[in-house]
Amino acid sequence: MSAPRILIIGPPGAGKGTQSANIAEAYGVDHITTGDALRGNKDMDISDMDTEYDTPREYMEAGDLVPDEVVNAIVDEALSQADGFVLDGYPRNLDQAKELEEMTDLDVILSLDVSREELIDRLTGRRVCDDCGTNFHVEFDQPEEEGVCDECGGDLIQRDDDNRESVENRLDVFEENTKPVIDHYDGDDSFVAIDGEQTPDDVWADIQDAIDAHVE
Ligand code: AP5
Repeated sequence: MSAPRILIIGPPGAGKGTQSANIAEAYGVDHITTGDALRGNKDMDISDMDTEYDTPREYMEAGDLVPDEVVNAIVDEALSQADGFVLDGYPRNLDQAKELEEMTDLDVILSLDVSREELIDRLTGRRVCDDCGTNFHVEFDQPEEEGVCDECGGDLIQRDDDNRESVENRLDVFEENTKPVIDHYDGDDSFVAIDGEQTPDDVWADIQDAIDAHVE
């Protein structure tokens, strides 16, 4: 099998990060995630880019999109260094989708579908390891010891944008900007819709079937 070029797309909380970790490990590809890249550079000075705010932080905490110029550059750089990859969090609007078409081809596009009510429950209950980034959930995926990561012993924190107000806005931003990207890809030979409301193991099984069917 050649190194697969995989796009995973879906609303906030659909399980993109959770399943991308499985894909990266099982298929030996890079996990390219604009969300993590931006969280690691929240206070980067972007004032020379003629943007409303001077850093990504303000956009992210409100749940709004960071300007395209910033994210396009992050993805272009990461893709230029990757052999195979799973791309998570990009493209989020049609202009970003056009940019991506200039940067690379895709072998498979995995679209995770989850209802809005379930997404709100998942995101407001999510806890993330401050050190290694592993996801937990206060109800659905509890750590053995409260507040402590099972993988590395790090502190579990709540993301700044996982409060109810930001979550509602992120879901509205998704409907307005990213849903049209999914509609644009739907019908493509490489497009596979996955029921993201199944258990994580069942979602993972469907993802493996989809990748194996599309990558030689
Ligand atoms: P980003 O970090 O990409 O966040 P997101 O898209 O909102 O996605 P999440 O990470 O919240 O959810 P996920 O789908 O990865 O779900 P997860 O696996 O964690 O982006 C953050 C911000 O950065 C944006 O708002 C924007 O400001 C900016 N940004 C990023 N990319 C950008 C771009 N291209 N352009 C402009 N701005 C950009 O799962 C969620 C929870 O559910 C976890 O607790 C998990 O344990 C649980 N869970 C997962 N799967 C299941 C399951 N099957 N059943 C039950 N629970 C499950």
